[in-house]
Amino acid sequence: MAVKLSVNINKIATLRNSRGGNVPDVLQAAINCQVFGADGITVHPRPDERHIRYSDVRQIKPIITTEFNIEGNPKEDKFVQLVLETVPTQVTLVPDTAGQLTSDHGWDTLKEAQYLREIIGVFRQAGIRVSIFVDPVADMVAAAADTGTDRIELYTEAFAKEFHHDRDEAIALYIQAAIVANEKKLGINAGHDLDMNNLAFFASSIPGLLEVSIGHALIADALYYGLENTIQLYKRQLVHSR
Ligand code: PXP
Repeated sequence: MAVKLSVNINKIATLRNSRGGNVPDVLQAAINCQVFGADGITVHPRPDERHIRYSDVRQIKPIITTEFNIEGNPKEDKFVQLVLETVPTQVTLVPDTAGQLTSDHGWDTLKEAQYLREIIGVFRQAGIRVSIFVDPVADMVAAAADTGTDRIELYTEAFAKEFHHDRDEAIALYIQAAIVANEKKLGINAGHDLDMNNLAFFASSIPGLLEVSIGHALIADALYYGLENTIQLYKRQLVHSR
């Protein structure tokens, strides 16, 4: 089965917010991404609402015809309330610190085991699939299995950085992490800095990859190729996945 492409629409909200008003229309963009072939929509509300707003998330939920993935830090009570209210297909828990430019590290699943177990239980109880953001470290993936999470999301920035220099070196830790995840029966998602150049190699190298969420590069490519073409181009990178 092809890996699913969830389009992160935060950048569309960032563009809108830069001017006030409602151009571009984030709700329409979410509708269009799905019509153009996206397998899901991802949003990542942050407490300062500088990208997607909490009100956007509430408006987007009813127009979802695919999968809805909400990312964020569960240590923010407002985030937990929003997720429990909107009941997305999946919540991806990310240990962001306030004001962080973008996510830059995964959970320490050993140190935070007890906390993660409790909060994951809250979301699973509400019927929401849970994924947790982790670095490609076999021990962290192994410990993720003890938290009760359904999936992990592998943080791919390190892969993307090393890819142009040595792609085999870049992917090595991710393959090891995926093997551990498969052994532990954890589903595997991935995201961060995946793009048209590195996506096919990543997807075809990682056994059991289920979903990628992509924002920055995809929305930037849409400036040149248009949103519909770009989504189709990215989807084509995923057909030879393992
Ligand atoms: N996954 C997580 C947890 C993220 O925070 C982000 C960025 O918001 C992404 C995936 C998507 O990364 P990018 O915008 O680089 O495609």
